[in-house]
Amino acid sequence: MKQDKKIIFTIKDLSKSFGSKDVLKDVSFDIYEGEILCVIGRSGIGKSVLIKHLNGLLEPNKGKVIYNGKNISDLKHSDIYSLRKKVAMLFQSGALFDSMNVEENLALPLLEHTSMKKADITREISEKLSLVGMEGIEKLHTSELSGGMKKRVALARAIMQSPEVLLYDEPTTGLDPVISDIINDLILDMNSKYNLTSIVITHDMRSVRKIADRVIMLHEGRIIFDGNIPEIEAADDLVIQQFIS
Ligand SMILES: Nc1ncnc2c1ncn2[C@@H]1O[C@H](COP(=O)(O)OP(=O)(O)O)[C@@H](O)[C@H]1O
Ligand SMILES: [Mg+2]
Repeated sequence: MKQDKKIIFTIKDLSKSFGSKDVLKDVSFDIYEGEILCVIGRSGIGKSVLIKHLNGLLEPNKGKVIYNGKNISDLKHSDIYSLRKKVAMLFQSGALFDSMNVEENLALPLLEHTSMKKADITREISEKLSLVGMEGIEKLHTSELSGGMKKRVALARAIMQSPEVLLYDEPTTGLDPVISDIINDLILDMNSKYNLTSIVITHDMRSVRKIADRVIMLHEGRIIFDGNIPEIEAADDLVIQQFIS
């Protein structure tokens, strides 16, 4: 099935170190348009480092990341902004500003990177909030939001500029199972309704089983698994088995 699909990202021989610590070693894989790709692996293994290469937050030491035919390392500084508009990221922390209300948080990317008028921004915000099931909370302060609400507002902010690709860094970590399911449903919904490609870092196998079209597992700097849910369930590698059970 995946062979018929268009490749949107090619990651080729990507290596990344910090000081003497080799985090990624010659990692290669493709990402297909429209898929939900889950990236799993134990804490500290390099999942966040990996996906930060997809929108130019990190630069490879070696190898390349090609998005729609272009090597991200070759992009000019100004093109990085358009890249991040297309490849948006939902950070693990949510990264909302506590000193601002919901509306101000959501307006930020549009004020910084577009010349949209105030009225259009207001309408856009209300649309995006309703997409994540949070209509009417514009005037609430970030500090008044629950964990699940914060994630949804962060998701609304990530989709403000109608991206093609959404990078989710641990979207359900720290949430209870009921709220996690709501977020998982939203990820599925966004993906199908807007024809997004979604890359989701998680160590929660419940979420993986619910949303993943495909899973890659990182271990000691390399990809030790790349396949679908039935395939990972059947994998006989001990490291994989331990992780998924
Ligand atoms: N900017 C950085 N500078 C130095 N070390 C980093 C940096 N970012 C990540 N690391 C290290 O890289 C390793 C992988 O981190 P990370 O990708 O965040 O793991 P995880 O799989 O939990 O997301 C960790 O050892 C982390 O300390
Ligand atoms: Mg991480």
